[in-house]
Amino acid sequence: MAVEPAVYGSSDRPPRGNYARAGDDYTCAQDYAAYSAQDHDTYRRLYERQAVLLPGRACQAFIAALPALGARDRIPRFEDINARLAPATGWRIVGVPGLIPEVPFFTLLANRRFPVTDWIRTPQEFDYVVEPDVFHDLFGHVPLLFDPVFADHMQAYGQGGLKAHRLGACELLSRLYWYTIEFGLVRESGGLRAYGAGILSSPGELQHAVASPAPQRLALDVERAMRTRYRIDAFQETYFVIDSFQALFDQTAPDFTPLYERVRQLPELPAGPPRATSQAQPSGAAAG
Ligand code: PHE
Ligand code: CO
Repeated sequence: MAVEPAVYGSSDRPPRGNYARAGDDYTCAQDYAAYSAQDHDTYRRLYERQAVLLPGRACQAFIAALPALGARDRIPRFEDINARLAPATGWRIVGVPGLIPEVPFFTLLANRRFPVTDWIRTPQEFDYVVEPDVFHDLFGHVPLLFDPVFADHMQAYGQGGLKAHRLGACELLSRLYWYTIEFGLVRESGGLRAYGAGILSSPGELQHAVASPAPQRLALDVERAMRTRYRIDAFQETYFVIDSFQALFDQTAPDFTPLYERVRQLPELPAGPPRATSQAQPSGAAAG
């Protein structure tokens, strides 16, 4: 049955997936027969490039769970992953044709279903793909669904999303998603490690996020994350750092209703660090 494609932001580009394949809940079967030899090879090359960058940059829970994705030389079958994931944490992955609207997305998460786009980027998009594809969704998001605390957090996020939708606060909550589930860092073994899927599935961002001196790295403050704008077209200029998944769970456990009220009254914060003030002040007053 045909459903409306999800359109985000102000892009004029039509969404990429074939939404005629999706059911009412926006899920669809993984069209495994549709993958070409080139598609499998793209996955293999993406996996290989990313795997060598993980030690010292990805968090331990991610590295430990990654082999549970199975095949690394071709696109895995979702059902094979579910045979391991469901017994581990009760989560399942479900195919989707691409980005889906907020309510169906939150509903899936609240039911411990993680939507995974089933198509893969073209070879021309090897380094950068605008919409999430099967490599981003599987490699970036699914390993941490094997972690019991992170798994519970993702479900709580889905439940919180349905509430945010009722309160008209989805944009604020999506900033928190961006700065945690997509671009979060965790302090671990005395250093910074990535747990956010947008970092873990990107070679450039993985190195930038943990090692570049350019971005600011702030201890996670839920209110501040909700106020902070973000960039979708460049490496992040701000990362929020958690101490553990349990700390993330605990920090996001309170009822956000009063927080949304408060944040709505406060100005937005820029995506990046404050610009270094010019050394030559126009007034000439600054000395030394
Ligand atoms: N505690 C949040 C609320 O009451 C829900 C939530 C949980 C949001 C986990 C994000 C992550 O709205
Ligand atoms: Co993602």
